[in-house]
Amino acid sequence: MILDNKLNITHQIELAKAEEKISKQKAKQLFDSGDIAKLEIGTFAGLAFIHAYLFDDIYDFAGKIRDVNIAKGNFRFAPLMYLDASLKHIDTMPQSNFDEIIEKYVEMNIAHPFREGNGRATRIWLDLILKAEIKQVVDWNQVDKEDYLSAMQRSVVKDLEIKALLKQALTDQIDDRALFMKGIDVSYYYEGYSEFKTEEL
Ligand SMILES: Nc1ncnc2c1ncn2[C@@H]1O[C@H](COP(=O)(O)OP(=O)(O)OP(=O)(O)O)[C@@H](O)[C@H]1O
Ligand SMILES: [Mg+2]
Repeated sequence: MILDNKLNITHQIELAKAEEKISKQKAKQLFDSGDIAKLEIGTFAGLAFIHAYLFDDIYDFAGKIRDVNIAKGNFRFAPLMYLDASLKHIDTMPQSNFDEIIEKYVEMNIAHPFREGNGRATRIWLDLILKAEIKQVVDWNQVDKEDYLSAMQRSVVKDLEIKALLKQALTDQIDDRALFMKGIDVSYYYEGYSEFKTEEL
């Protein structure tokens, strides 16, 4: 089944390509315009801003809380019934050190507030918290795709693996443009998108 989209595309492969290209251009713009410095750190409002920024040209649901239940593998993300309460709770979670920030990230992943594009938007959100609170970001090039996805699957039960994996990839290069652009490419690669290089768009 293909998602309804503003581009009126009806073929999945074509939609995936257009989505990758347009939203990567937006990710680049988010950084280069300085808009990235304006958003709220560590709240659902901040995450919704990122999601809307990336996907507004493509989906009506950009930046909006989903209205269907979703699952991945055999894990069901937060049931709609509890989603609002969960997001309010996450807003109040502390974020003053690495462990607290990853715990918050894990909870936001469990919430999975959007219909599509959660992984990509939430990794940008995570890096902004790390940057603001501990003056470091993840160098996603140092995080293997299979290791990452298996640690995220595991994180709903135990967060030790994702903490260890992301900790060894921390860098002090928090304002490095090339690192940000490459991080977007890696983040998209995790989700199966690797047609375009953000830097070149
Ligand atoms: N089985 C799982 N249990 C918990 N979290 C998972 C699982 N599988 C994937 N994830 C996490 O969810 C993220 C994205 O998953 P998913 O594809 O469902 O979201 P999405 O909304 O389609 O986002 P995107 O389009 O960016 O991939 C992954 O990057 C990972 O962090
Ligand atoms: Mg997806």
